[in-house]
Amino acid sequence: MRILIADDDFTSRTMLDMVLQSQNYEVTACRDGIEAWDIIKKGNAPNIMILDWLMPDMDGIELLIKIRSLKTEINPYIIMLTGKTETEAIISALEKGADDMLSKPYQPAELIARVNAGIRMVEAQQKLIEQSRALKAAQMQIANDKKLKAVGQLAAGLSHEINTPVQFISDSIHFLQDVYIEYSQLTSLYQEATAELKQLKLCSELLNKIEDAESKIDFAFINENIPDSFKASYEGLNRISSIVTSMKEFATPTNLTLAPHDLNKSLRDAVNISRKNIEAYTDIVFNPGDLPMVKCSIDDLNQVFLNIIKNSAQSIKYFNEKENKSEKGCITITSYIEGKNAIISVADTGHGIPEKIKDRVFEPFFTTREVGSGQGQGLAISRTIIVDKHKGKLTFESEEGKGATFFISIPING
Ligand SMILES: Nc1ncnc2c1ncn2[C@@H]1O[C@H](COP(=O)(O)OP(=O)(O)OP(=O)(O)O)[C@@H](O)[C@H]1O
Ligand SMILES: [Mg+2]
Repeated sequence: MRILIADDDFTSRTMLDMVLQSQNYEVTACRDGIEAWDIIKKGNAPNIMILDWLMPDMDGIELLIKIRSLKTEINPYIIMLTGKTETEAIISALEKGADDMLSKPYQPAELIARVNAGIRMVEAQQKLIEQSRALKAAQMQIANDKKLKAVGQLAAGLSHEINTPVQFISDSIHFLQDVYIEYSQLTSLYQEATAELKQLKLCSELLNKIEDAESKIDFAFINENIPDSFKASYEGLNRISSIVTSMKEFATPTNLTLAPHDLNKSLRDAVNISRKNIEAYTDIVFNPGDLPMVKCSIDDLNQVFLNIIKNSAQSIKYFNEKENKSEKGCITITSYIEGKNAIISVADTGHGIPEKIKDRVFEPFFTTREVGSGQGQGLAISRTIIVDKHKGKLTFESEEGKGATFFISIPING
């Protein structure tokens, strides 16, 4: 424990210093109130302080008032050292924020006992702060889980609702495309017939009407572009279908049968599959640890590995392009055991995850990618697979500009 003492009297200060050091405390000794205040206002002063009441320039009470005006997380425990014994003076110091008084002359044992009482108080405060932090984190986690659950239910409902109309749009487009082929064959016959009638100078009034109608609708343009319209409609439908499939995967917990699998083998496969697409801008390194067989749903886990590697690769690519970097990035995958869990970490040298979106990345549909290049589903689905299906953990650490590391933790025995 660190202790600050402020006493202008050399003998008294040395005595305090010696007694406290004999108890292995780390002492910061100040020669007066001003020197002590200089240290305290910088914000890293000890949490136990012994202040002499009478000092030149800034006395102990003035220093005490200044310390109490600071908004520190922990309230330092302040013992006033004084020759004063009048009750009124003592009451006044306590009211101004002193925690204890020590009258001169004192016995070293009393000083130590009072300092120890202060240490208990400071430690109790620290414990309380830690507990309150843990409580806040747990509350946030519960709120986040609730939100994700609600979004999951919404996604399940929506995917069902979207599927039905998509199905009949898709049926109708198939029908239209089929009949269009026959229809266009028929219209070319009509065109041949009108050309012949024109040559024979027959039905000229009707032919004029036909020509007029054709020019109004730009018949040639329509014929040329209809095939592309079908193609675009199919592309749109495919995109909707893949969104709906992802939404379903996120929302519908499948019945899991867990079986023992070699995660290192799956990771090696995932690395090999990914390497081809990303080697132009990043290396990918796998450090397999000594893993036992892990009870899991391996197809689901493969999907998670690919999602997370893909995110890392996208982040590196974007970062390299933005910063005009010529050297390749690196994705490092490591597997190891921690207690009863198999851990897989995926670290990248990409742009990292900005502080303001850290609590959103697991939300379904949350994406920072350009329209059409990300659905914001990869991490939401991965989270469902790891947390809900495998009772594991999916977390990350990231500093903006320095990359991100995702940690997958899976209970070895299911
Ligand atoms: N390794 C990473 N580095 C930096 N940002 C990341 C990383 N992984 C995820 N993110 C951020 O989290 C967001 C959500 O990721 P998620 O995988 O869920 O969706 P997506 O990649 O945008 O789209 P999808 O995976 O559906 O194609 C990303 O848009 C990105 O902003
Ligand atoms: Mg993704």
